[in-house]
Amino acid sequence: MSSGMRIIVAEDEQEFNLRAASLVVETLESLNNPLVTFPTGMTPLGMYRALVAEYRDRPLWRTLRFVSLDEYAGLPPDDPRLFSLWVAKECLDPLSVPLENRMCFVSNASDIDAEARRMNEWLLIHGPLDLAVVGIGSNGHIAFNEPGTAFESGAHALALTPESIRSNARYWGGEDHVPRHGITLGLANLAAARHTIVLASGAGKSDILARALTGPVTVDVPASYLQTISNVSILADKAAAQYII
Ligand code: F6R
Repeated sequence: MSSGMRIIVAEDEQEFNLRAASLVVETLESLNNPLVTFPTGMTPLGMYRALVAEYRDRPLWRTLRFVSLDEYAGLPPDDPRLFSLWVAKECLDPLSVPLENRMCFVSNASDIDAEARRMNEWLLIHGPLDLAVVGIGSNGHIAFNEPGTAFESGAHALALTPESIRSNARYWGGEDHVPRHGITLGLANLAAARHTIVLASGAGKSDILARALTGPVTVDVPASYLQTISNVSILADKAAAQYII
């Protein structure tokens, strides 16, 4: 495990959510006009609810700049499966983050590779990220960076792997409803972040968390890039942290 890594273990779900929210707010309040990316998924849901319940009146949201972490490709702008709509509903809208401060992937861009280039060019001008909040997949993926993705990758379009399709099926009532293509920030975009907060909860994440943080740094486990960067906080519940404490 890298020496700059801070591990925080929450006793229960409530502590996990409150701790995640306070960690995000503390980090953002230490920065000017921070540029942040947030994950979708089950793990961060309680954190968003805690941010809204406990911190919605903080001035920081008015100057926050948000950038998409990942997105399905090829969906119309009002498709309920869009990650950008999910993050807006759970977090950005209730916190009143200005619309003009949100840089989201355009899912139905006519050229999805050009859309990825647009994001990389935007990040060259407006980046790097000040804070990346990320979740980890049980195969070690981060966003749509699946095993085998180069550590040097910037934002890119991709075909979802069978594993991603399976794991996303739980959100949309079956594999048939999961879009087949995606677009994601790359591991190099994420590794450039000045601060990183990793959220992991549940026993299902315990093995992969230990492999990512204490195993070899390898593209087979995309989240192992975390060992190569500084200013990383891992927030895990007791079940997810069982092999790293
Ligand atoms: C989603 C994302 C993914 C998830 C991961 C864990 O934007 O970036 O890496 O964080 O698949 O998902 P949950 O939290 O649903 O277990």
